[in-house]
Amino acid sequence: MANRIWNFSAGPAVLPECVLNEARENLLSLGNTGVGVCEHSHRGKAFVAVAEELEALCRELAGIPNNYKVLFLQGGASLQFGMIPMNFLSSDKTADYLVTGAWSEKAVKEAKLFGNVHTASSSKDANFNYIPHDVTYSDNPAYVHFTSNNTIYGTQFATEPTGYNSDAFLVCDASSDIFSRPIDVSKYGIIYAGAQKNLGPSGVTLVIIRDDLVEAGNSDLTAMLQYRTHAANDSMYNTPPTFGLYLMMLVFRWIKSNGGLAGVEAKNKAKAAILYDYLAASSLFSTTAKEDSRSLMNVTFVTGDEAKDTAFIKQAEAAGFSALKGHRSVGGMRASIYNAFPTEGVDALVQFMKDFEAANA
Ligand SMILES: Cc1ncc(COP(=O)(O)O)c(C=O)c1O
Repeated sequence: MANRIWNFSAGPAVLPECVLNEARENLLSLGNTGVGVCEHSHRGKAFVAVAEELEALCRELAGIPNNYKVLFLQGGASLQFGMIPMNFLSSDKTADYLVTGAWSEKAVKEAKLFGNVHTASSSKDANFNYIPHDVTYSDNPAYVHFTSNNTIYGTQFATEPTGYNSDAFLVCDASSDIFSRPIDVSKYGIIYAGAQKNLGPSGVTLVIIRDDLVEAGNSDLTAMLQYRTHAANDSMYNTPPTFGLYLMMLVFRWIKSNGGLAGVEAKNKAKAAILYDYLAASSLFSTTAKEDSRSLMNVTFVTGDEAKDTAFIKQAEAAGFSALKGHRSVGGMRASIYNAFPTEGVDALVQFMKDFEAANA
């Protein structure tokens, strides 16, 4: 048995241990087929059964309406930064972006290649440590894009943005909080997420897209960049990342057995509260994100003294708490505690922080 430590990585991130164990068994033989999961043709009966269960579970967990397609693509969330504007924007159109971090900025940069971008809100003035309440939309945006959870800064939208022209559709980069709480898909035109935080290994991008948008996308693009290509071919226009899809299916089974999205949300709230409650009471550590904007997925904190931060990270690593170093643009520490991160690991971290605080008072 591998000696696993507490892994606070922001992504690729910890996966449920039961999923990894089951995947290990199926590496040599998927079920009783005698052929390993990575060795099956994606068009064969055994793998098609995996793909069908994957989509069915995805629809069931998120309550995805029938007028939406569920696509499993490649190229990460980063390809969606470009694919969305190249399908729905042009030089005579404007898209509105809520800019709440470096990932939103990257999305804006791509959109500018294809049309006009209006920054509807931004929290750059405070190094993205809050979710702005002041939002000014343009009159007639093609779509409104936001990043539901800001992985680097530890901020998260509590609810979807509202108040924009109803002709526009809402687009969400949900890479770092997808399926961490119930979601009303009908409010969105497109939801996309790289899998590597809450859904599985890197290499798969989940895209949930309304049927009319699949049809409306620019048809003047290479096939792989049109949503209709993937929709018409059940995400198998080219060879999909079969192992990633299989793992995602196992993660969806695990979410279902944990009470679905409502169940994981309750667990995520309780788990994050352990850490935030301690941080509120601590006289050494404090959070970097504003209270009303704090993320349940990425908890960012500092001591206020860089040398102490460095010592903390080093001692934590030696004690079996890995990947706590914050992103360089924020500094300090970041504990990423996605769906699969166990509550016991948060309890253990808080005890370690208490001991560190006592020793460094
Ligand atoms: C919110 C968010 N968007 C986009 C990305 C980029 O994702 P990918 O590496 O899948 O392109 C990340 C990666 O961490 C992210 O956290």
